[in-house]
Amino acid sequence: MNIIHKCTTTRKTAVVTGATSGIGRDIARQLRKRGYHLIITGRNQKELERLVCEFGEKYTTAASADIADKRECLALYRLACEYNTEVLINNAGFGMYGEFAETSLAREMDMLDVNVRAVHILMKLFLRRFAHRNYGYILNVASSAGYVPGPFMSGYYASKSYVVSLTSSVYEEVKRRGLNVHISMLCPGPVKTDFNSRAGVRGKIDGISSELAAAEAVDGMFAGRFEIIPTAGVKAICYLGGAMPKKISAFANYFVQKLNKSRK
Ligand SMILES: NC(=O)c1ccc[n+]([C@@H]2O[C@H](COP(=O)([O-])OP(=O)(O)OC[C@H]3O[C@@H](n4cnc5c(N)ncnc54)[C@H](OP(=O)(O)O)[C@@H]3O)[C@@H](O)[C@H]2O)c1
Repeated sequence: MNIIHKCTTTRKTAVVTGATSGIGRDIARQLRKRGYHLIITGRNQKELERLVCEFGEKYTTAASADIADKRECLALYRLACEYNTEVLINNAGFGMYGEFAETSLAREMDMLDVNVRAVHILMKLFLRRFAHRNYGYILNVASSAGYVPGPFMSGYYASKSYVVSLTSSVYEEVKRRGLNVHISMLCPGPVKTDFNSRAGVRGKIDGISSELAAAEAVDGMFAGRFEIIPTAGVKAICYLGGAMPKKISAFANYFVQKLNKSRK
């Protein structure tokens, strides 16, 4: 991990992974507006430097970290322990497009390390800390992809299904313990970010803005909502798709992906 800027503060603090782009960056903006000192991460150092200027040196700590590496997750946690951290946004993630038999195994392992392993490690470490203080918020950025199988993005959909399952179980455990710790997950459908170009998704997919996704996420999290699904249409897809036999939803999604690919 490389510390780009570090500030000294006792202010309430929020950690945002994947803050250099898209949904994470807009969630960071929302949290800054609410007075949080931010710990922002990602690998893009230039953008982190720019964000320190945007958010203000007095309110931002920035560290570049590749959280596919477990040691970087631990370093990020140790950094957060130096502050009055009460919010974790587990947002960093990426997808990969292609038939399962054809996609790169190495890149897929990297994807699972970021989308699954880092989320798991950070959620556990921060939850222990928040449980000890009996206060905190954890928001995991999952996806509508977490509810259904997704041919042509099978590994990505499976990774988000892990996040949905993990978050749901932990939510129930925390609630039953009566802790004042709030567990939420954001499950958007398509959002206009760099996600599709990074994933190699071809075709045209309309989506909501990352500003809207982020505003819903932060409002929902502070309102104590567990499942935050930004639009009614996507909600229907999650619930109906999730209730269908997997074979049928895989069949339906196969043709949706084929159709998207043909719409340039
Ligand atoms: N866009 C959508 O349609 C959509 C829909 C549902 C859910 N989501 C989820 O939303 C989250 C954010 O995605 P986005 O749409 O905002 O995409 P994005 O614009 O591509 O942002 C992805 C973020 O993840 C970070 N990241 C990726 N690999 C990393 C690594 N190894 N180490 C540290 N940071 C890493 C990137 O930072 P660096 O490049 O600086 O490393 C970037 O800040 C993801 O979890 C994604 O699965 C997206």
